[in-house]
Amino acid sequence: MKTTIAEVHQYVGQEVTIGAWLANKRSSGKIAFLQLRDGTGFIQGVVVKNDVGDEQFQVAKSLTQESSMYVTGVIQEDSRSPFGYEMLVSKVELINQAIDYPITPKNHGTEFLMDHRHLWLRSRRQHAIMKVRNEIIRASYEFFNNNNFVKVDPPILTGSSPEGTTELFHTKYFDEDAYLSQSGQLYMEAAAMALGKVFSFGPTFRAEKSKTRRHLIEFWMIEPEMAFYQFEDSLKVQEEYVSYIIQSVLKNCSLELERLERDTSKLENIKAPFPRIMYDDAIKFLHEQGFNDIEWGDDFGAPHETAIADHFDKPVFITHYPTKIKPFYMQPAPDRDDVVLCADMIAPEGYGEIIGGSERIHDPELLKQRMDEHNLPLEAYEWYLDISKYGAVPHSGFGLGLERTVAWITGVEHVRETIPFPRLLNRLYP
Ligand code: 4AD
Ligand code: MG
Repeated sequence: MKTTIAEVHQYVGQEVTIGAWLANKRSSGKIAFLQLRDGTGFIQGVVVKNDVGDEQFQVAKSLTQESSMYVTGVIQEDSRSPFGYEMLVSKVELINQAIDYPITPKNHGTEFLMDHRHLWLRSRRQHAIMKVRNEIIRASYEFFNNNNFVKVDPPILTGSSPEGTTELFHTKYFDEDAYLSQSGQLYMEAAAMALGKVFSFGPTFRAEKSKTRRHLIEFWMIEPEMAFYQFEDSLKVQEEYVSYIIQSVLKNCSLELERLERDTSKLENIKAPFPRIMYDDAIKFLHEQGFNDIEWGDDFGAPHETAIADHFDKPVFITHYPTKIKPFYMQPAPDRDDVVLCADMIAPEGYGEIIGGSERIHDPELLKQRMDEHNLPLEAYEWYLDISKYGAVPHSGFGLGLERTVAWITGVEHVRETIPFPRLLNRLYP
């Protein structure tokens, strides 16, 4: 019976065959322990010389790291391994002997590992991170489907720039100029007027000259947009959504979190509602904490966000930012003109902003005025103005950055490990 490591629990006491690679190996004169991986999981194969005979034992003993094989044996429960099963090997059939695999069990520098990202992905740690990433994506679809959102796919090649014009990737679109999408938001707003509650999941691009542990050039965003939802309604969706992701990962990725040595006690109580703090109060708080490098009207830097987040044990919403440091489309607060109805969700433990969102302007005159102030070419946005021209309604939405969320939940230091092939300021390879 051919199977995979993820499915061996169905075959306890039976002989199965698995296609696998050798992750690591220990052996003595009489017994070899093969750490096997097949992509779906990791399992130990035990090869006993007296059982398999001399020739098979030599094959097993001479396997090199990342050699590929079909391995056959009986599946046994193994209470000592966190995985719970091992294989008593009866036969090893070599497919390909790997010579001098560059990533050995010893420590390598970051640049070396990044140059070998295509191989580094095979490691247990990277495997665990990718599995958590997948679980977050799965739980996101589940959450939005359960709540009657429709998945909509906005374009990647666009003629508009929702998040400001300075960080755009320019390309040619035949004879026209085009940009890689910074955010699908404007299209999602149009889609919300057609489908009510929508969400997107796709790559977005920022030509940001930032070289920090939170910045990627290409990252993936989940962007929900909801017709008839006001600012507060959107915050509720956000806190419920993030709680749902956390609880799903805790439930379905316990092995991975253990492998990553994540302190899960810090995640367990992440349940809605989340605390809120207004921008004005956040500035006051920072001044009380001794930050003299920030004034009302400045955007927060990483140390500011971390100081605010450290005050809470859940993600915190910072709300009502100054109009002048936010994009053109945000709805002004009802009682004052200098701040907008927006919120950034700041993750605990120094992971920074994971969500940016707002209520959107739906008054066409105000929108035009704001676009003028931001020097946006009206021709490129005529379609966007139609949203508020025909049956405009209050609406809100947000964008969750997948990689920062993965970094927070897995507890990894840098977003470069949270996406299979990171695009960074100085890296387009591999
Ligand atoms: O705050 P941002 O720029 O918001 C928007 O793009 C809105 N149009 C979203 C919306 O309302 N539909 O980006 C949203 C999130 C951030 O909170 C952050 O998590 C992530 O995207 N993000 C990045 N992640 C990695 N690298 C970067 N360079 C990022 N820039 C933003
Ligand atoms: Mg933001």
